[in-house]
Parts: sequence; C-alpha cells; structure tokens
Amino acid sequence: MDVVLRRTRASDLDRVLALERATENAPYIGQWSLAQHSAALASAEWEHWIIVCDGDEDTPEGFLIAQDLRAVGKGVYIKRIVARAKNRGVGRRALEWFIAHAFQELAAAFVWLAVFVHNERARHVYRTLGFRFRGVPEAEADAWLEVVGNPDRPALLMFLDAGDPAGSPHSHDGRRKS
Ligand SMILES: CC(C)(COP(=O)(O)OP(=O)(O)OC[C@H]1O[C@@H](n2cnc3c(N)ncnc32)[C@H](O)[C@@H]1OP(=O)(O)O)[C@@H](O)C(=O)NCCC(=O)NCCS
Repeated sequence: MDVVLRRTRASDLDRVLALERATENAPYIGQWSLAQHSAALASAEWEHWIIVCDGDEDTPEGFLIAQDLRAVGKGVYIKRIVARAKNRGVGRRALEWFIAHAFQELAAAFVWLAVFVHNERARHVYRTLGFRFRGVPEAEADAWLEVVGNPDRPALLMFLDAGDPAGSPHSHDGRRKS
C-alpha cells in the first residue's frame, strides 16, 4: 500500500473531527475544537496533514498534526496521529513519511512525541521506528510537558534523533535508503 501525507484542507476538518472523536481513537489522543484545527491550518508553527492511501486524495485515511519547535530548540513534535484502519500498516507508513519530511525537508535535529502508557499499539509502532524513551532534565521538565499540554494521564516522551540509525536513513517513499 502506498501511504503519503498531503496538507489538510478546511474541507477535510469534518472528517478529522469525526476521526478524533471516534470511540476507538478518543481514549488515546487529545481533542481539539473545529476552531483549533482551523487555527492550526493557518499557522506557520503547526503542520496539519491528511493520510492518503493509494493515491485516493479525497478519502482521508487519517491525520497527523505536528508542531515545529525548532526555533526554541525542541525539534519537531508529533502532536497527534490517527490511522482510520488499524493494524494495516497505515500508521507506521504515515510516520515514516513524516519522519523523512522532518529530517530531510525541515532538517530537524530530532522528532518527539508523548504517548500514554496504556497505548501499547502506538508504543510498539514508535519503538519499531526507532523512537526511544528519554528523560528530560528536571529543571526543563515543565517546559517539555507544557508542549504536551499537561495530560491528565501519565504520558511517556519518546525521541528519534536525526543521527540515530533508524532516524537518518528514511526516504520519502517510506523505505530505508541503503
Ligand atoms: C497508533 C496508530 C496511529 C498506529 O497506526 P496503525 O496503522 O494502526 O499501525 P500499524 O498497522 O502501522 O502497526 C501496528 C503495529 O502494532 C502492533 N500491535 C497492535 N496491537 C498491539 C498491542 N496491543 N500491543 C502491542 N502491539 C500491537 C501490530 O502487530 C503492528 O505491529 P507489526 O507491524 O510490527 O506487527 C493507530 O492504531 C491509531 O490511530 N490509534 C488510535 C489513536 C492513537 O493511539 N494515536 C497515537 C497517540 S500517541
């Protein structure tokens, strides 16, 4: 299956909201209003992407939201990802596409995210992509968690560095470069 990301359009947001609120996704992700999604589309700090499978641009198969924090030394933060169909490789391929974008086009030093402890599927996907748990210095902890948005459940921070074996060699077609 071919999986790519394209920029989210305002006309996609009803679908995005439906996916975000769906019972199989809501326990694992934050919830934004339509106004918050719309604001992200208009902001240079946020990247809002639609997951497209096999070239069907008009049928969102999920979405990914990222925050560009390079200017404050915090790399690129994957705020939220949802794949509509689970366990078919869509989420991993979408993340591979985004990681290649972050390292090759944004030249990010690292990509990071927060995942709830109980979200074992997502943790497995991130781990197999090379993301690793990392503590942050206590003095900086509040600043990092502020980005995450003070979740009411414990979230783990996972990082993928551009220099990591799994972090550098992705190409934009989702395959590893030799
Ligand atoms: C997390 C998510 C984006 C992953 O996308 P996906 O398309 O379902 O994932 P993939 O099919 O690419 O990979 C799923 C992997 O998890 C594994 N898996 C499934 N359930 C699992 C579980 N309970 N524990 C551990 N691994 C599990 C699958 O076997 C597969 O691994 P493999 O390819 O190595 O065999 C998607 O499931 C989703 O939208 N979940 C709800 C929202 C969410 O949790 N978002 C992330 C918030 S941090």
